[in-house]
Amino acid sequence: RHILLINGPNLNLLGTREPHIYGSTTLADVQNEAKAQAEGLSATLDSFQANSEGAIVNRIHAARGNTDAIVINAGAYTHTSVAIRDALVGVDIPFVEIHISNVHKREAFRHHSYLCDKAEAVICGLGVYGYTAAIDYAAKHLKLKGR
Ligand code: DQA
Repeated sequence: RHILLINGPNLNLLGTREPHIYGSTTLADVQNEAKAQAEGLSATLDSFQANSEGAIVNRIHAARGNTDAIVINAGAYTHTSVAIRDALVGVDIPFVEIHISNVHKREAFRHHSYLCDKAEAVICGLGVYGYTAAIDYAAKHLKLKGR
């Protein structure tokens, strides 16, 4: 299985950004651990981070035909982006939506997701452990669509 881990805007600041909410683990830590974890589960994993919506859309398109599952923390675009939703649906790759924080405990504008009704699963509030849980699920339990 090949998994693509996508992190959206501001997640490059992970570890230094609002650490009371997002913790002190850096994005590089998350990406390195994700890769090692996937390999331990006989899967492969690529990581991608971008702050711009179009770059994320382009990376999702590039996954078509070579990726079995996407794990995506779309950051604030979760709450705004019809384009990322359409890209995920368009490539027809099953995906897990993840948020480090419990978005439902936060501002009302974070309660709506443009992705969640198309996701296989949604994880939020587990801190960066959410990535571990999502990758474990994507590598072991996710029902694949043939490619
Ligand atoms: C986030 C939650 C979003 O509301 C926020 O805009 C982020 C991070 C999370 O991981 O908790 O950038 O996706």
